[in-house]
Amino acid sequence: MNFELSEEHKAVKDAARDFAQNVLKPGVIQRDIDVRFPEEEIRQLGELGFMGMMVSPEYGGGGMDTISYVLAMEEIAKIDASCAVVMSVNNSLVCWGLEMYGTEEQKQKYLVPLAKGEKIGAFCLSEPEAGSDATSQRTTAEDKGDYYLLNGTKNWITNGKSATYYIVIAQTDRDKGHKGINAFIVERGMEGFIVGEKEDKMGIRASDTHTLIFNDVKVPKENRIGEDGFGFKFAMKILSGGRIGIAAQALGIAAGSLEFAKAYSKERETFGKPIHEHQAIAFKMADMATEIEAARHMCLKAAWDKDNGGNYDLTGSMAKLYASKIANDVAREAVQIHGGYGYVREYHVERLMRDAKITEIYEGTSEIQKIVISRAILKD
Ligand code: CAA
Repeated sequence: MNFELSEEHKAVKDAARDFAQNVLKPGVIQRDIDVRFPEEEIRQLGELGFMGMMVSPEYGGGGMDTISYVLAMEEIAKIDASCAVVMSVNNSLVCWGLEMYGTEEQKQKYLVPLAKGEKIGAFCLSEPEAGSDATSQRTTAEDKGDYYLLNGTKNWITNGKSATYYIVIAQTDRDKGHKGINAFIVERGMEGFIVGEKEDKMGIRASDTHTLIFNDVKVPKENRIGEDGFGFKFAMKILSGGRIGIAAQALGIAAGSLEFAKAYSKERETFGKPIHEHQAIAFKMADMATEIEAARHMCLKAAWDKDNGGNYDLTGSMAKLYASKIANDVAREAVQIHGGYGYVREYHVERLMRDAKITEIYEGTSEIQKIVISRAILKD
């Protein structure tokens, strides 16, 4: 077993770190305050090849493995968890889904611009009454021969307004349960497709999260992904991969929080010495570092499983469950180490603590991860 990163992996990590520290860091506090989508920053991430990292070069992607993706996500999320989620949804839920299950025409038309970062994608599963219980889709896609008629509402959609292409999950035949669900590629601008209200969120405020409304949207038949009835399994499969990305985002939030806490603990003095010389502070950071190291191993193991045919449904959910928990714990402790300064917007840890919470909610709550894990470990 070799824990050493390859030269290529180190180069990806360094490039992501440089970008995060030099390009993202200067404006990240203000983007959070202004609730402003990082349009220019995402464009640059695309130019660096980070928006379609795992897509084959044949379709405009970086041809990298999932380990590279985890390394990059950690570095980006250390500074800007909003950028990280935009990147994660585009890479894991949209590009990877299209590359795995799209037709050649769908790949040429949609995947290539998404993988190059020229366009942004969104994944639309959640509904007012179907978040965790993903089979209870109310959005309908009526088969009309050469097109489907899409009607319904999707909620909490990341990249809701900034995206051009949307993967939408909808019910075609309710009687067939999950086998009556399909996945479609919907383009912004299609008649009847309305980008609704923007959510006023606790964290990841620079990412745009919207309600989407579909009123008699005619989706051409060739925009269905996979065979009729494949939509639910498609969603489950790509969410399994997506959870590795969100685990890495959570890892980044934790690791970033520790970096800020360490730096602060060396500057700030109380009782005549830097606060890291007090065991009350040093021991906190020992715990934080240990938890981060464990989460990092879990994220990399899940990525390795995905790259090598392992059971990443299980290890990805485990990584997400653990990394999202420690992201919240570590960010909270980082605020505590900063004292009153940690409670104000001028300091990064205040934002990171708010950003951490979503990692326990999206792409399956912690409770959903426990369902996936317990089913896997108890099935034999
Ligand atoms: N891969 C392939 N197939 C899978 C699968 C997977 N990972 N998980 C389930 N399936 C298949 C099953 O084998 C089954 O197929 P068969 O009937 O042919 O055997 C079918 O799907 C139904 O499976 P279940 O009976 O297990 O389904 P369930 O209704 O019990 O649900 C669940 C399982 C794990 C709870 C699932 O509903 C789930 O993951 N829910 C959470 C959804 C979620 O993550 N939502 C987040 C929204 S996306 C988001 O947040 C994006 C963003 O903006 C950042």
